[in-house]
Amino acid sequence: MKEIEAQMKKKVEIHNPKHLKLETNSLIRKSLNILLIPILNLLPIKSRSLVKKSHKSVSDIVDNATTHKALEILYSNGNKHLVKKFYEKLSHTIWFNTNNSKGVRNRLKIVKNEIDTILKELIVNDSKDEINVVSIAAGSARAVLEALENNPTSKKVNITFVDKNQSALDYSVELLQTMKGINSDNYKYEWINDTVNGFLDKNSRKYSIVEMVGLMDYFDDEKAKRIFEKIHSSLEKSGQFITANINHNSEKKFVTKAIGWPMIYRSAEHIARLVHESGFSHLDMKVYYEPLKIHSIIVASKN
Ligand SMILES: C[S@@+](CC[C@H](N)C(=O)[O-])C[C@H]1O[C@@H](n2cnc3c(N)ncnc32)[C@H](O)[C@@H]1O
Repeated sequence: MKEIEAQMKKKVEIHNPKHLKLETNSLIRKSLNILLIPILNLLPIKSRSLVKKSHKSVSDIVDNATTHKALEILYSNGNKHLVKKFYEKLSHTIWFNTNNSKGVRNRLKIVKNEIDTILKELIVNDSKDEINVVSIAAGSARAVLEALENNPTSKKVNITFVDKNQSALDYSVELLQTMKGINSDNYKYEWINDTVNGFLDKNSRKYSIVEMVGLMDYFDDEKAKRIFEKIHSSLEKSGQFITANINHNSEKKFVTKAIGWPMIYRSAEHIARLVHESGFSHLDMKVYYEPLKIHSIIVASKN
């Protein structure tokens, strides 16, 4: 393990502030998981069609794995209110209370809270009268949009959403329309259909906030570092970079095989080292896990 990773490991904490109401496991669920997770991990690829038959929302997640559609189903807790029949309730309890389901909802709340906190500081205390924010691999852009909804502003805020999938951008346009108070003249939105590299290579703007969550789970170390370097260049001084990565966890085999959602799993200190090696100092970084340790979240400041 590299020296910096060893140092970061000591620094990594579990983040569970009460007001965020993050999901954890009850004693009953923890006990159930001792039996359930090894069984889920034994499910072969062939069982995928059976898993799909057990619940409509799970079927939609499998069909849309890695996309904003699957994440929106997880964020909405598998549309629990639509579940009526007994067997559906039972399968809902199993699928949507796995550590991975809960962990990704925790990540959403934490990322939203981080953006919210930084925005408040910029709106209230910063002397700048224009703020630039970009969400890369934005998907539904839920975390950013919900944070904006919390922050009415008299300053001009330019928000850019970048995604290589046009249907994700279309979805976020619709989501924005359902939200209150964030269509004021002070907010200027832009949706860009491009890859992360395509966008960053053409970009000339300096940002106060760059958010990129749910993308490094698919990029190897070298590609991740090249992207972090470009993000570092795109930030203004004291600009903040928010990112995350899935951590090694006991449900990996199940998620990879039965759900069909392969990812690159990294510890918090591993992703933090890559961010550090790309120009951000580890001394200006917050690194932590959500309470179930499925996702790590990093907030790195450009000094
Ligand atoms: C797992 S989703 C994450 C969405 C959102 N950030 C969130 O956390 O809810 C990944 C998103 O990245 C987009 N994506 C995948 N590869 C990309 C790339 N090379 N450049 C830009 N976007 C990409 C996908 O279209 C998808 O919307």
